[in-house]
Amino acid sequence: MQKLNNNFYHKDFISVEQFSHKRELDKIFTLADQMKEKIEKRRIIKDLKTFCLVELFYQPSTRTYTSFLAAGLHLGAKVIPIHGMQAYSSAVKGESLPDTVRTVEQTTAADLLILRHPADDASEIAAKYASIPIINAGSGTKEHPTQAVLDLYTLIQHFSNLQGLNITFVGDMKYGRTVKSLAKLLTYYAKNLTMNFVAPKVLKLPNLESQWLKNKQVKIHQTENLEECLSSTDVLYVTRVQKEWFEQKGKLRLYQQLKNSFIINQRILQKSKKKMIIMHPLPRVGEIAEEIDNDPRAVYFSQMRNGLYTRMALLRLILLDR
Ligand code: NCD
Repeated sequence: MQKLNNNFYHKDFISVEQFSHKRELDKIFTLADQMKEKIEKRRIIKDLKTFCLVELFYQPSTRTYTSFLAAGLHLGAKVIPIHGMQAYSSAVKGESLPDTVRTVEQTTAADLLILRHPADDASEIAAKYASIPIINAGSGTKEHPTQAVLDLYTLIQHFSNLQGLNITFVGDMKYGRTVKSLAKLLTYYAKNLTMNFVAPKVLKLPNLESQWLKNKQVKIHQTENLEECLSSTDVLYVTRVQKEWFEQKGKLRLYQQLKNSFIINQRILQKSKKKMIIMHPLPRVGEIAEEIDNDPRAVYFSQMRNGLYTRMALLRLILLDR
């Protein structure tokens, strides 16, 4: 996979493993800060007014879909959103991803394609066949790099220094792609990290990822018991149990058994640090009780807004050489 080497121009953004240095992330965050300020001051930005973007989504999405759409529009680009590929497109007739990608590039004359797809390697395949940059907006159970970027941006807003951070991921470590991307991305940004992965045994973090993190000197702790690590946790990153993958395997009964394994509520918060923050990529389906929504530690709603700013920054960095 092509490394970014501090230069995003005309590159695909498929995996967090394309990063090498903290400075590449700082470049995104500096621009994201500028985007935030402009949006908050209602400044009109037309940087991408001659550009056209396509969103091609084969899986449901609310946040990623709307924030990419809004990011493009706030920058003055034309955005063609194609949602519901799995229901209405020629994919239903059996058209392959390489053919659909080439079709969309031809029919729209777009400059960039944002893809969400259930296959782990979908973005890599798309990048092979398209001549325009591809942004991975979620691929299978493997990667969600732009979510990881917005999550990291959220973290640096709350902690002056991420060195030595203790982060606890809870929920579905097996199928959840946001956890894998964020855990890896953090290693490019900070050292001396402790990561706790809390999940029922069957939803444990795959060996591939845990080994990758160990090779990067991350202290890893895997457990089924959330309370074991609560008192030292700085960041509680909650995820839903990913129903769709159970459905695909005909294992809905197992999903029903697992889905309420962890519920973050007042009782859990009482045992946590006063300065801890609670994040979630959302959607939530019961794993965070609404009773804690107004607790100052709950940042999952403001976290979403960061998706707009960081995606604006990424689009600009990929499309403009200045
Ligand atoms: C996540 C995803 O699609 O992986 N959602 C998102 O993009 N914010 C998390 C999820 O669906 O559980």
